[in-house]
Amino acid sequence: MSEPQHVRESGTGTPLVLLHAFPLSSRMWERQLAVLPGPDGTAARVLAPDLRGFGAAPQSGEAPSLDVLADDVARLLDRSGVGRAVVGGLSMGGYVALAFARRHGDRLAGLLLADTKADPDTGEARANRERIARAVLARDSVRLLVDEQLPQPQLSATTVRERPEVVDRVRALMSEAAPAAVAWAQRAMAARPGSRDVLPAVSVPALVVVGEEDAITPVGDARAMAGALPDAELRIVPGAGHLTPLEAPDAFDDAVRALLARVTAADRP
Ligand code: MLT
Repeated sequence: MSEPQHVRESGTGTPLVLLHAFPLSSRMWERQLAVLPGPDGTAARVLAPDLRGFGAAPQSGEAPSLDVLADDVARLLDRSGVGRAVVGGLSMGGYVALAFARRHGDRLAGLLLADTKADPDTGEARANRERIARAVLARDSVRLLVDEQLPQPQLSATTVRERPEVVDRVRALMSEAAPAAVAWAQRAMAARPGSRDVLPAVSVPALVVVGEEDAITPVGDARAMAGALPDAELRIVPGAGHLTPLEAPDAFDDAVRALLARVTAADRP
């Protein structure tokens, strides 16, 4: 089977896979690719793939399923010579990280869940995803999605008020998405199962990060995941909405470094 991926990579150290949100791309992790590799005792080898259809990755020919993306991550590790990695994702990326934990749990050295949730869609949410999938395909444009998502519910009121450059950056990133990728990902997310049952089996160090003003996957979802994970830290980031690494990068990066330190300590013989 082909491996339709494009990967940004930097650094040496603990392998850290970062999976992007919908409908963004690996470009959302530019700052983490620059900052997280070092130079201290929490140095990381950061791998940030474009998920199928996004960024430079070709569109998937397979039926929409987040399991396909989780298996892509396992193949990325194989190709990169990595046995176990800290696997993390934001929102849709977090759903994929949870699918990876279900399907490839023995390859986890740590788990990072950012602005995401373990519960499946409601019927209403699934219907809304299908509405968007059909609309972007029919118009051959993602404009409707971008207009519905920005500046809110994606970004916090604080970001909108105080950091308009972040709003512009996210708008540019979202506008790059291909309609076919948006439709495929919406249908894959609609089909995902709940992942609450996966959490108690994750015995490696975990970090759950959420923006205090996240209106899409609110603090309550993050608390529920952290409570179900055996070894989790919960960080609630003031002033951030659904895109914490873009809205409050210092706080996000600091939380990830703390996770990397816990993973290093746990791996020490
Ligand atoms: C995301 O940021 O990836 C999306 O909000 C996820 C979703 O639509 O559930």
